[in-house]
Amino acid sequence: MKATAIAPANIAFIKYWGKKDDALRLPLNASISMNLSSAYTTTTVEFSKEYNTDLVEGAFTPKEIQRIIAHLERIRGRAGVTLKARVMTKNSFPKGAGIASSASGFAALTVAAAGALGLKLSEKELSILARLGSGSACRSIPDGFVEWEEGQSSETSFARSIYPADHWDLRDIVCLVTSKQKDVGSSSGMENVKTSPLLDKRLAAIPGRIAKMKEALKIKNIQLLGEVIEEDCLDMHAVMQSQTPPLNYWTDETRQIMDAVRQWRKEGLSVYFTIDAGPNVHLICEGKDEKEVVRKITEIGGVREVIINKPAKGALLVY
Ligand code: PMV
Repeated sequence: MKATAIAPANIAFIKYWGKKDDALRLPLNASISMNLSSAYTTTTVEFSKEYNTDLVEGAFTPKEIQRIIAHLERIRGRAGVTLKARVMTKNSFPKGAGIASSASGFAALTVAAAGALGLKLSEKELSILARLGSGSACRSIPDGFVEWEEGQSSETSFARSIYPADHWDLRDIVCLVTSKQKDVGSSSGMENVKTSPLLDKRLAAIPGRIAKMKEALKIKNIQLLGEVIEEDCLDMHAVMQSQTPPLNYWTDETRQIMDAVRQWRKEGLSVYFTIDAGPNVHLICEGKDEKEVVRKITEIGGVREVIINKPAKGALLVY
């Protein structure tokens, strides 16, 4: 009873920050993302009566291991089995540094564990199950460009593909400014979201942004897409930074890259930035501008590594 799954991380163009139900991980707002081709997790899960306890291999904290085991429990419950499991996992990128390792990690764990137990789940069911492990993981299940509708219950809060990966040749060029594990993870960071005086304004703006984003994706307009991406990124970080206690994920390098991107745009290059719960900056542009963006970014000191992503398919059971 063994299976391996591979699942992409995703970059949110419209971000998820805050839950209306913590246990069910129901988000305060809908979000839109793109799966990433070069940032993924490969996970093997083996259930066996040989194991007396769950074995989670890899560099995880005790809290992370607990969360992984709680997720295994959910999937065992679904299948009606009590067998313990061994979990082996590998990321193609540094964990916890602003690329959503929890998204690819819980998506891969969900698909591998369900596959190993022979559960025949639909994409919607897998997305719901992944969401219970980590919110943004539900967006790593479907193909390409994805919307997570907030929903009002567990059954109505899941992600679906808006366009397949080959719809638009976009790039997410991730600039890693550090591989240090972040101090405050997104789950605990968003617990204080309601202390921000800017939250209500953010939530009121989201439906309009979602509509603009869908239009930008439909007509493949990089300028419209980029403007909405930056607006929503800055809005989410304004909420984070105005929470009590304030949450600041940016470093000097982060700000330096944001300034550089604004300057490059003035010079005619269509590139936009977005940032998740970490210091790294994701540069969004069209495929035709990839080389120029990479050339320019490598001229900036402080960028340790660059990961070039195309839109990718969702989570897959590989064997
Ligand atoms: O589901 P989590 O805990 O990985 O939260 C993700 C939060 C952000 O990355 C900051 C935004 C998003 O929508 O991906």
